[in-house]
Amino acid sequence: MEVIKSPAEMQKAAGALRSEASPLGLVPTMGALHDGHISLIKRATTECAAVVVSIFVNPSQFGLGEDFELYPSSLDSDLEICENLEIAVVYAPPADAMFEKGYDTWIEVPSLAAGLCGANRPGHFRGVATVVAKLFSICRPERVYFGEKDYQQLVLIRRMVLDLNLGVDVIGCPTVRENDGLAMSSRNANLEKNERERAIFISRGLCRAQDLFVAGERSVNELKKAAHEELEKGDVEIDYIEVIDPETMELLEVAFDSSRMAISAKVGAIRLIDNLPLKG
Ligand code: PAF
Repeated sequence: MEVIKSPAEMQKAAGALRSEASPLGLVPTMGALHDGHISLIKRATTECAAVVVSIFVNPSQFGLGEDFELYPSSLDSDLEICENLEIAVVYAPPADAMFEKGYDTWIEVPSLAAGLCGANRPGHFRGVATVVAKLFSICRPERVYFGEKDYQQLVLIRRMVLDLNLGVDVIGCPTVRENDGLAMSSRNANLEKNERERAIFISRGLCRAQDLFVAGERSVNELKKAAHEELEKGDVEIDYIEVIDPETMELLEVAFDSSRMAISAKVGAIRLIDNLPLKG
């Protein structure tokens, strides 16, 4: 397995890989790999002839006062995981190689970035869209793999790929959960014991809404009320609970089959997100 740090070298390696092994897959990550990432990587290795994993904690998607400095990092064990999964190349550039002095080009997907996490994290999706487009142009993948836990990110990237004719297949993969239902996230590593126990009420809120949906409830107010009650049990600080159209991200008042409930809440200082398709 090669570990490449320079964008120019990565581009060269990607060109060679693509001519020998197509389709070339990419799993973009910010490191601190967990079973959620591993499921993306495994899927990529079964569907692609060669796979690149990128590990880059992108400063431009963190706002002032957010957890950029505290974002968990475990490069040595990440590399070991990738080696064991027979990854061809890990692309792990330093920040100044991705955003050189004078960097001045940004990608905005304004409508899809406006609500949910975008409302609370101004500039976040501009940073995500820009770095993902750069990763595509550096790693030159034919298929890319993203988790559905970051659902707004997934929808926005699909839009960007269409709008800019990037010619990449975007594959969304189901959220991987701990045994008690907590969605896997690198940020879970920063939860104190008591916060870890309270965090499970986020997925319980989603499950409670899903149970009501199965029982025939379609009023978003009622579904949100039920989820809210669960979250209150965990004493978490709710950013939002919404039910959205899964393609347009439009907020709904009446839920339909496959509309999604999305939640963001802070447990102590850690902001966690989760979502679930409502299915009858
Ligand atoms: O989902 C993530 O880990 C990040 O937002 C991504 C897609 C790697 C871009 O930095």
